[in-house]
Amino acid sequence: MGAKEFFVPISLESIEPIIFPDVALYIKTGGNYVLYKSNGRDFSVYDHERLSKNGVEFVFVSKIDMDTITNHMEVSAERLLNSNILSSRAKGKMIYQTSINFVNDIFNNPEKSTDLARTKRLIENLMMYLSNYPDAINSLETVMTHNYYTFVHSLQVASLTLMMHSAGYTLSPDEMLDVGTGAILHDFGKIFVPQEILNKHGKLSEAEVEILKRHPEEGYAYLQDKGVLSPVALTIVRLHHERCNGSGYPLGLENKDIPRSAQITGVADIYCTLTTDNRGNKTMPPHIAVQLMRNQMKDLFSPILLDTLEKLVCTEDVQQFLL
Ligand SMILES: [Fe+2]
Repeated sequence: MGAKEFFVPISLESIEPIIFPDVALYIKTGGNYVLYKSNGRDFSVYDHERLSKNGVEFVFVSKIDMDTITNHMEVSAERLLNSNILSSRAKGKMIYQTSINFVNDIFNNPEKSTDLARTKRLIENLMMYLSNYPDAINSLETVMTHNYYTFVHSLQVASLTLMMHSAGYTLSPDEMLDVGTGAILHDFGKIFVPQEILNKHGKLSEAEVEILKRHPEEGYAYLQDKGVLSPVALTIVRLHHERCNGSGYPLGLENKDIPRSAQITGVADIYCTLTTDNRGNKTMPPHIAVQLMRNQMKDLFSPILLDTLEKLVCTEDVQQFLL
């Protein structure tokens, strides 16, 4: 493993001096990571200005400090995004940076590093594309400030959805962007669901489930009205909870009546929900989640799509182990 794997880039603009967590920061010069600030010293306004003047866009943190950074990002995301401290460009960068950080979590097996690099590129392209559309970025920002883990979950679902499309089908770059945009905003309608329901631990009441189940239609109606999303993206937002046996919502469609991109997003959505809880913790190994989807959720998803998912998220080692 090269030194590269041990460091994670953090956008300089997303760092608020003084209150940034006390972790060692590195800068990259001539291909090497050089300690800039050690643990125990504040990152000052002066540091920020100096690096910025020198054209430094990213500083690096050790991978082991990522939990601390992630916690900080979560706590400060809402405050930062709602504040006047950051320019809209910096806010966009912060969303982008957080996105890239979370893509790391999807493929938690290092053997899949090619997939990881590929996913990062796909998400980078998507975020770059979205950054040209203030309405789309605003929509993402709204999701992030309403419920941080809905945002994290959306990113993971978008990454996996893009990977499944790219592994199983030939899509033009434009179609990939449409699919990615729909997937990243698939739960947009959750901004209309109260926080207490989204963050509730334990079982939801029947009434609460009914409120939650409105999110595909409400997200679709709102985003359609805005007129910024393509029909493919809107379809994903509206139909990602439809299931092959007709048990899904809001329309109860079956099999081929559910557009493929919505089916794939649905598979990615459930897989991410099974493997990561709403605090971002890993809850189930990939191969167990896929098995559960194959057995206990047998009629809900296309077996072909589950094959595609399995090839992406399960390593050969794990498959051998199961045999
Ligand atoms: Fe959803």
